[in-house]
Amino acid sequence: MPRHYAIVPAAGSGARFGAEKPKQYLDLLGRPLIFHTLAALTAHPAIERVWVVLSPDDAEWSRHDWLALGPKLETVRCGGATRAASVTNGLRAAAMAAADDDWILVHDAARPCLSAAMLDALVAGLADDPVGGILAVPVADTLKRADAAQRVAATEPRDGLWQAQTPQMFRYGRLLEALENCPGVTDEAGAIEALGLAPKLVRGDSTNLKVTYPADLALAAMILRARQ
Ligand code: C5P
Repeated sequence: MPRHYAIVPAAGSGARFGAEKPKQYLDLLGRPLIFHTLAALTAHPAIERVWVVLSPDDAEWSRHDWLALGPKLETVRCGGATRAASVTNGLRAAAMAAADDDWILVHDAARPCLSAAMLDALVAGLADDPVGGILAVPVADTLKRADAAQRVAATEPRDGLWQAQTPQMFRYGRLLEALENCPGVTDEAGAIEALGLAPKLVRGDSTNLKVTYPADLALAAMILRARQ
């Protein structure tokens, strides 16, 4: 039986958020934001180990207490210049444990509202899948393309469009090969697509938001509080 492992890229600087420290360490209900992200993964019975990919010069991780997350957690200080580089380096660090057919779930540090139900849906929905896939939601809003003056240049059809989320779940060997062949992608599915494969879209929901701007942090707090 293939095993399930998680990799959490957490080496971003969070420039768009504009805070004094990387967004993964901002306070969310009394804990660093990434604590909630990691808690969702370490608590899931199918996931055997969680690698957190930190920036080599991360000074914040060691200021917090992670003991409550238990023994599945492992840190590697090999973050790269892009998200894809951080994930690729994390995959290489996982080589001593992961076999080619094992499943890897890559999940953004900045998505703290991942629920057990969403993880269940992803793991069960892809168990027999030959390619793997991602959590995603169909686009609900009407899409506008902007011109240089920030006026509407066109209304884009949204039929068949989905927003990609994480976790993104693929076999270890194929994912590493895909990212090494295609390092310019913004998500793992993009690298798998470049191999000519079609990842499955597993329907998640919009509560699995990525904290990018300050308003997202308040929303994440509301979502987590409502679940308590
Ligand atoms: O910046 P963005 O929100 O798209 O980043 C998505 C995830 O990738 C975050 O968890 C961030 O910490 C991570 N990342 C990384 N290494 C980078 C850039 C982003 O691990 N160089």
